[in-house]
Amino acid sequence: MNKHPKPLLFLLLFIILFSQSVLSVDFVFNGFNSTNLSLYGIASINSRILTLTNETSYVVGRALYRSKIPTKTPNSSQVLPFSTSFIFSMAPSRNKAILPGHGLVFIFTPNTGINGTSSSQHLGLFNLTNNGNPNNHVFGVEFDVFANQEFNDIDDNHAGIDRNSLTSIISHTAGYWPDNIKSSSKSNDSDDEEKGFEELKLNNGKNYQVWIDYADSIINVTMAPVGIKRPKRPLLNVSLNLSDVFEDEMYVGFTSSTGRLVESHRILAWSFSNSNFQLSESLITTGLPSFAIPKTPFYKHKSFIAGVTVGSFFVLVFIALFALFLVKRERRRARERAEMEDWEFEYWPHKMTYQEIDAATKGFLEEYVIGFGANGKVYKGVSPGGTEIAVKRISHENDGMREFLAEISSLGRLKHRSLVGLKGWCKKEKGTFMLIYDYMENGSLDKRVYYDCDESKMLSCEDRIRILKDVASAVLYLHEGWESKVLHRDIKASNVLLDKDMNGRLGDFGLARMHGHGQVASTTRVVGTVGYLAPEVVRSGRASTQTDVFGFGVLMLEVMCGRRPIEEGKPPLVDWVWQLMVQGELLAAVDARLRASGGFDEEEVEKVMHLGLLCSYPNPNSRPTMRQVVKVLEGKNEPCDSETEDMEAYLLQKVKSRDMWANYSQNFGYSSHPTFDDIRQSHSSSMSLSWTISMVDGR
Ligand SMILES: Nc1ncnc2c1ncn2[C@@H]1O[C@H](COP(=O)(O)OP(=O)(O)O)[C@@H](O)[C@H]1O
Ligand SMILES: *[C@@H]1O[C@H](CO)[C@@H](O)[C@H](O)[C@H]1NC(C)=O
Ligand SMILES: *[C@@H]1O[C@H](CO)[C@@H](O)[C@H](O)[C@H]1NC(C)=O
Ligand SMILES: *[C@@H]1O[C@H](CO)[C@@H](O)[C@H](O)[C@H]1NC(C)=O
Ligand SMILES: *[C@@H]1O[C@H](CO)[C@@H](O)[C@H](O)[C@H]1NC(C)=O
Ligand SMILES: *[C@@H]1O[C@H](CO)[C@@H](O)[C@H](O)[C@H]1NC(C)=O
Ligand SMILES: *[C@@H]1O[C@H](CO)[C@@H](O)[C@H](O)[C@H]1NC(C)=O
Ligand SMILES: *[C@@H]1O[C@H](CO)[C@@H](O)[C@H](O)[C@H]1NC(C)=O
Ligand SMILES: *[C@@H]1O[C@H](CO)[C@@H](O)[C@H](O)[C@H]1NC(C)=O
Ligand SMILES: *[C@@H]1O[C@H](CO)[C@@H](O)[C@H](O)[C@H]1NC(C)=O
Ligand SMILES: *[C@@H]1O[C@H](CO)[C@@H](O)[C@H](O)[C@H]1NC(C)=O
Repeated sequence: MNKHPKPLLFLLLFIILFSQSVLSVDFVFNGFNSTNLSLYGIASINSRILTLTNETSYVVGRALYRSKIPTKTPNSSQVLPFSTSFIFSMAPSRNKAILPGHGLVFIFTPNTGINGTSSSQHLGLFNLTNNGNPNNHVFGVEFDVFANQEFNDIDDNHAGIDRNSLTSIISHTAGYWPDNIKSSSKSNDSDDEEKGFEELKLNNGKNYQVWIDYADSIINVTMAPVGIKRPKRPLLNVSLNLSDVFEDEMYVGFTSSTGRLVESHRILAWSFSNSNFQLSESLITTGLPSFAIPKTPFYKHKSFIAGVTVGSFFVLVFIALFALFLVKRERRRARERAEMEDWEFEYWPHKMTYQEIDAATKGFLEEYVIGFGANGKVYKGVSPGGTEIAVKRISHENDGMREFLAEISSLGRLKHRSLVGLKGWCKKEKGTFMLIYDYMENGSLDKRVYYDCDESKMLSCEDRIRILKDVASAVLYLHEGWESKVLHRDIKASNVLLDKDMNGRLGDFGLARMHGHGQVASTTRVVGTVGYLAPEVVRSGRASTQTDVFGFGVLMLEVMCGRRPIEEGKPPLVDWVWQLMVQGELLAAVDARLRASGGFDEEEVEKVMHLGLLCSYPNPNSRPTMRQVVKVLEGKNEPCDSETEDMEAYLLQKVKSRDMWANYSQNFGYSSHPTFDDIRQSHSSSMSLSWTISMVDGR
């Protein structure tokens, strides 16, 4: 009997030791060998990688550790703790037309094989009949990429804990809370709970590591992209007594399925232990193959292609429109250019922008209006340089634009100390046109000579004559000072402006025309101002230097007499002065206020009056030329010049001659000077007498 106790004791000891060793299971697979696992369904091991499913439809793949493992203390309700970790990859098909699905499950199952399971949404875990059956004794942690309402799935990218059923006890969108994000301790609402959560897309082919720990009836499920240290905060954390689910020994492994939706489910590494919770750290997380679908280069991406297509369409449309705009502008410019001679461009006065002018006149404030012309208002402004300018705003008609531009070009070239300088121009698209002149501080002459003008502003006789000399020199410059002959056509008191030194300056070149010397100018329309119009202009519409002389003659008379050429209830100025001259009372015509304010040089005044009469003589051929006029006017101040004296004597004699007078009354009569009525009759409504663009022969 002594023999027996020893072997028995040894056997007992052996049994105890064996049972201990059986209860403790741990393994690490950094890559698989087909001998390590039992494979079911379509599962396979290739290149040390466990492939549960490939892209075959409606299949189940399952892999279980080759033997059962103890999960409970035998004949007790005590569930053994366990710790497992694995690295998985779910890769959708490269064929984008195939939708990815369905998911994989880490399982504890009492049975081998795939009996009682079905594919697609059942994940190879259960089938329609046994789903939710407590007798399944199946526990799983699912990674599901299909939102199945049948099982109350929260979304199509979640992790969940399944106990005998595909309806999870608890689930959460797949992802993790990186450790560096502090969860807010202040507030406890669910938004803050989720703070810092980073969703991980399960089936993008990337490698994810999962940790599942169970101890003291608490199960933690944690996941993170491979390579990242296990996050402290688990994804799923639930109190769970697995005593009823687990049998004493269970198979442990993975299962997955495809349906119409397919994807490759792979396990790359796996560790399991029911004693050593640090074993997961033995998993090699580096140097793993990647099944992530190489991103389609952005330029091959459908949305990119679509975007580029649409984008380039718009760009093309834009370019086309812009090109059209440029072409149109070029054409317009070319058209405008074609209207100009080359020389005109050389002298083209500075073009200003509408903005500049708008700023200079503070947006065309009414307060800045300094005058009203026949064609629009005249504004005062201050140019950016600080100099004062006068802006003449003109509403123009388009049909005259071509000629008008030609006009402008001529204006800019004209520079004379007695001409109002044209600084520039601005054409606003259709409608308004602006001319910018030097500002004339002392306004226009008409406000300073007529008997109804402000007494304090009234000009002395000397000033008047000086100004007339200025104007005469300006007209002479227009007529002769240049390779081209320029007619002013609208010489009158309101077009004579006075600068700060009270010098007379001839302005308003709107009606100026150029003619090659020797060319006969003619117009198809009458231009000018009633009262200043030579009779031949009214009759024939023909303008000439002589018609400017006529206008200047009228100007001389009105400046000396202080009355307008035509006034209601009075004979026309020229006729009236002629009469007085014939009656030998020429000086009676002179502005009475001049006499009152200290008299005047009678001889000088008489000369000017005579000259004025001669210039406004009805027969154009009897009028002196502008050169003669200037010579006579300047005569006295210049050193004795026989020619000038002769000229003056000749002219005066001519004026005073009885023949002239006889001729005048005989041939022209009192009504020879056109009045408003005459003009209205012969030209009806077309008599906008100022700023009319006219055609001239030879251009
Ligand atoms: N350059 C200028 N500087 C100051 N005032 C001006 C200037 N140009 C015009 N004006 C004022 O505006 C008024 C109208 O001028 P204008 O347009 O030349 O008259 P119209 O069109 O009748 O010939 C003038 O009488 C004058 O008072
Ligand atoms: C598995 O291991 C056996 C023996 O160690 C070896 O012969 C076999 O090639 C391995 N298979 C794989 C797939 O690694
Ligand atoms: C897996 O199988 C191989 C070959 O049969 C063996 O060498 C290795 O130890 C096994 N690994 C585990 C964890 O069982
Ligand atoms: C899937 O794997 C099985 C066996 O492992 C193979 O017969 C089948 O051709 C594979 N299908 C695809 C689509 O790769
Ligand atoms: C567990 O109980 C069964 C009967 O219920 C018995 O056969 C078995 O030996 C017991 N096992 C242990 C380890 O106690
Ligand atoms: C699965 O069920 C089939 C019958 O449906 C049976 O033939 C087969 O042996 C079972 N496999 C396992 C592993 O139980
Ligand atoms: C589910 O599996 C069980 C066996 O485990 C089987 O009896 C049953 O018929 C299956 N149900 C379906 C719908 O396949
Ligand atoms: C946070 O929880 C405390 C008690 O635990 C509660 O009194 C408080 O209202 C909660 N705050 C929020 C924002 O839910
Ligand atoms: C589960 O997580 C909580 C909090 O992170 C931790 O206190 C607990 O020990 C974990 N349990 C297991 C079994 O890892
Ligand atoms: C996990 O759950 C346990 C028990 O439900 C709880 O004590 C613990 O605070 C939880 N941990 C986290 C991180 O939520
Ligand atoms: C788990 O449940 C079983 C029976 O349902 C019970 O006997 C056991 O005490 C429970 N374990 C824990 C830790 O609550």
